Amino acid sequence: MKIQIINGPNLNLVGIREPGIYGSSSFLSYFETLKKRYPAIEFAYFQSNIEGEIIDKIHETGFSFDGILLNAGAYTHTSVAIHDAIKAINAPVVEIHLSNVHAREKFRHQSLITAACKGVIAGFGMDSYRLGVEAIIELKAK
Ligand code: DQA
Repeated sequence: MKIQIINGPNLNLVGIREPGIYGSSSFLSYFETLKKRYPAIEFAYFQSNIEGEIIDKIHETGFSFDGILLNAGAYTHTSVAIHDAIKAINAPVVEIHLSNVHAREKFRHQSLITAACKGVIAGFGMDSYRLGVEAIIELKAK
Protein backbone atom coordinates (compact mmCIF):
# COMPACT_ATOMS: atom_id res chain seq x y z
CA MET A 1 0.00 0.00 0.00
CA LYS A 2 1.23 3.47 -0.90
CA ILE A 3 0.19 6.59 1.01
CA GLN A 4 1.16 10.13 0.07
CA ILE A 5 1.24 12.74 2.84
CA ILE A 6 1.00 16.37 1.69
CA ASN A 7 1.51 19.26 4.07
CA GLY A 8 0.73 22.79 3.00
CA PRO A 9 1.92 26.25 4.02
CA ASN A 10 3.73 26.87 7.30
CA LEU A 11 3.63 23.20 8.27
CA ASN A 12 7.39 23.04 7.71
CA LEU A 13 7.61 25.16 10.87
CA VAL A 14 5.60 22.84 13.11
CA GLY A 15 7.65 22.27 16.25
CA ILE A 16 8.70 25.94 16.28
CA ARG A 17 5.46 27.59 15.15
CA GLU A 18 2.84 28.30 17.89
CA PRO A 19 3.77 25.22 19.96
CA GLY A 20 0.78 25.74 22.26
CA ILE A 21 -1.45 24.93 19.27
CA TYR A 22 0.65 22.66 17.08
CA GLY A 23 2.96 20.93 19.58
CA SER A 24 6.72 20.96 19.88
CA SER A 25 7.77 18.10 17.63
CA SER A 26 8.56 18.60 13.96
CA PHE A 27 6.60 16.73 11.30
CA LEU A 28 9.76 15.07 10.01
CA SER A 29 10.51 13.50 13.40
CA TYR A 30 6.90 12.31 13.69
CA PHE A 31 7.14 10.92 10.14
CA GLU A 32 9.91 8.54 11.26
CA THR A 33 7.64 7.25 14.07
CA LEU A 34 4.77 6.77 11.62
CA LYS A 35 6.93 4.82 9.13
CA LYS A 36 8.15 2.51 11.93
CA ARG A 37 4.58 1.88 13.07
CA TYR A 38 3.47 0.78 9.58
CA PRO A 39 6.48 -1.00 8.07
CA ALA A 40 4.37 -2.59 5.32
CA ILE A 41 3.15 0.75 4.00
CA GLU A 42 5.18 2.80 1.55
CA PHE A 43 4.93 6.45 2.60
CA ALA A 44 5.88 9.49 0.57
CA TYR A 45 6.04 12.95 2.10
CA PHE A 46 5.79 16.33 0.42
CA GLN A 47 5.53 19.82 1.92
CA SER A 48 5.10 23.08 0.07
CA ASN A 49 4.15 26.64 0.86
CA ILE A 50 3.01 27.10 -2.74
CA GLU A 51 -0.56 26.29 -3.78
CA GLY A 52 0.32 25.22 -7.35
CA GLU A 53 2.98 22.78 -6.12
CA ILE A 54 0.43 21.14 -3.83
CA ILE A 55 -1.94 20.79 -6.79
CA ASP A 56 0.85 19.31 -8.95
CA LYS A 57 1.60 16.72 -6.22
CA ILE A 58 -2.09 15.78 -5.97
CA HIS A 59 -2.15 15.24 -9.76
CA GLU A 60 1.17 13.33 -9.73
CA THR A 61 0.20 10.85 -7.00
CA GLY A 62 -3.59 10.81 -7.26
CA PHE A 63 -3.73 8.03 -9.86
CA SER A 64 -1.10 5.67 -8.44
CA PHE A 65 -1.29 5.92 -4.63
CA ASP A 66 -3.88 4.17 -2.45
CA GLY A 67 -4.65 7.34 -0.55
CA ILE A 68 -3.53 10.87 0.25
CA LEU A 69 -3.43 12.52 3.68
CA LEU A 70 -3.71 16.24 3.01
CA ASN A 71 -3.13 18.95 5.56
CA ALA A 72 -3.60 21.96 3.30
CA GLY A 73 -2.90 24.42 6.15
CA ALA A 74 -4.53 27.80 5.53
CA TYR A 75 -5.33 26.85 1.91
CA THR A 76 -8.03 24.65 3.47
CA HIS A 77 -10.06 27.77 4.03
CA THR A 78 -9.43 29.48 0.69
CA SER A 79 -8.58 27.11 -2.15
CA VAL A 80 -11.16 26.22 -4.80
CA ALA A 81 -8.20 25.04 -6.92
CA ILE A 82 -7.19 22.39 -4.34
CA HIS A 83 -10.86 21.32 -4.08
CA ASP A 84 -10.93 20.85 -7.86
CA ALA A 85 -7.62 18.93 -7.85
CA ILE A 86 -8.99 16.47 -5.27
CA LYS A 87 -12.11 15.98 -7.40
CA ALA A 88 -9.96 15.32 -10.47
CA ILE A 89 -8.06 12.29 -9.11
CA ASN A 90 -8.94 8.70 -8.16
CA ALA A 91 -7.18 8.26 -4.82
CA PRO A 92 -9.22 8.94 -1.68
CA VAL A 93 -8.07 12.06 0.15
CA VAL A 94 -8.38 12.44 3.91
CA GLU A 95 -8.32 16.04 5.15
CA ILE A 96 -6.05 16.32 8.17
CA HIS A 97 -5.60 19.04 10.79
CA LEU A 98 -3.41 19.04 13.87
CA SER A 99 -5.69 21.45 15.70
CA ASN A 100 -9.45 21.35 16.16
CA VAL A 101 -10.19 24.06 13.62
CA HIS A 102 -13.80 24.31 14.82
CA ALA A 103 -12.66 25.37 18.29
CA ARG A 104 -10.58 28.20 16.83
CA GLU A 105 -11.21 31.48 14.95
CA LYS A 106 -14.34 31.66 12.82
CA PHE A 107 -12.37 31.90 9.57
CA ARG A 108 -11.06 28.37 10.24
CA HIS A 109 -14.56 26.88 10.58
CA GLN A 110 -15.07 26.82 6.82
CA SER A 111 -13.17 24.35 4.68
CA LEU A 112 -13.36 24.61 0.90
CA ILE A 113 -11.85 21.14 0.51
CA THR A 114 -13.93 18.93 2.85
CA ALA A 115 -16.68 18.31 0.30
CA ALA A 116 -14.11 16.87 -2.13
CA CYS A 117 -12.46 14.64 0.52
CA LYS A 118 -13.51 11.25 1.90
CA GLY A 119 -13.54 12.66 5.41
CA VAL A 120 -11.80 14.89 7.92
CA ILE A 121 -9.63 14.24 10.98
CA ALA A 122 -8.88 17.27 13.13
CA GLY A 123 -7.78 18.04 16.64
CA PHE A 124 -5.57 15.09 17.59
CA GLY A 125 -2.19 16.70 17.04
CA MET A 126 0.27 14.49 15.12
CA ASP A 127 -1.98 11.52 15.87
CA SER A 128 -4.41 12.96 13.30
CA TYR A 129 -2.04 11.56 10.62
CA ARG A 130 -2.05 8.05 12.15
CA LEU A 131 -5.84 8.13 12.30
CA GLY A 132 -5.79 9.13 8.64
CA VAL A 133 -3.62 6.10 7.83
CA GLU A 134 -6.16 3.87 9.62
CA ALA A 135 -8.95 5.43 7.55
CA ILE A 136 -7.14 4.62 4.30
CA ILE A 137 -6.40 1.04 5.45
CA GLU A 138 -10.12 0.57 6.15
CA LEU A 139 -11.16 2.10 2.81
CA LYS A 140 -8.76 -0.21 0.98
CA ALA A 141 -10.11 -3.28 2.85
CA LYS A 142 -13.68 -2.57 1.67
C1 DQA B 1 -4.03 23.54 10.31
C2 DQA B 1 -5.19 24.48 10.63
C3 DQA B 1 -5.25 25.65 9.67
O1 DQA B 1 -6.33 26.52 10.01
C4 DQA B 1 -3.96 26.46 9.74
O2 DQA B 1 -3.98 27.49 8.79
C5 DQA B 1 -2.75 25.59 9.59
C6 DQA B 1 -2.71 24.30 10.25
C7 DQA B 1 -3.89 22.41 11.35
O3 DQA B 1 -3.20 21.44 11.05
O4 DQA B 1 -4.43 22.50 12.45
O5 DQA B 1 -1.75 26.01 9.01
O6 DQA B 1 -4.28 22.94 9.05
